[in-house]
Amino acid sequence: MALTPEDVPVATVTDGSRVVPLESGSTHSLTSEKDMIKTLLHECLQAKEFAYCPYSKFRVGAALMTNEGNIFVGCNVENACYNLGVCAERTAIQKAISEGHMNFRAIAIASDLEDQFISPCGACRQVMREFGTEWDVFLSRPDGSYLKMTVDELLPMSFGPEDLRKKKVFSVHNGC
Ligand code: THU
Repeated sequence: MALTPEDVPVATVTDGSRVVPLESGSTHSLTSEKDMIKTLLHECLQAKEFAYCPYSKFRVGAALMTNEGNIFVGCNVENACYNLGVCAERTAIQKAISEGHMNFRAIAIASDLEDQFISPCGACRQVMREFGTEWDVFLSRPDGSYLKMTVDELLPMSFGPEDLRKKKVFSVHNGC
């Protein structure tokens, strides 16, 4: 049976992002991993409701949590010029970055696929990887079940910002 957003707890709304109350002694703003997962699953289900997907009719929602406990949600936003469509995950990440948040703890993703965990596309994996390899991605199904993976597991042997700083066999001096 598919969960509705009402089945899981609601976070408090603050300044554009949402913050779950801080428990003293916790390194994260959330009480436990279990609560975090419940909250993110709730938020990504809700985000899916806003999906703008008149072409694919494939709704996706994402909910991203920062290490400080802020949550940024996103949905896929398609376009009549098909290749300009943006995935839910990247919508959420771009919202967070543009609000000054770049330390990510986890992202949860929801779709309407009945029997399958929604799997992020390659482009989204690379965008996630820009902000680290050791944070969690929860691939969910409409019944609330999920797979927990790290960015590194989803994109092994990845290329990232650190690679640009590594020693090269020669340096380019033509303005690069
Ligand atoms: N989509 C996402 O938003 N996230 C995913 O993880 C997979 C695919 C979107 C892109 C497009 O709007 C629609 O789903 C069909 O590909």
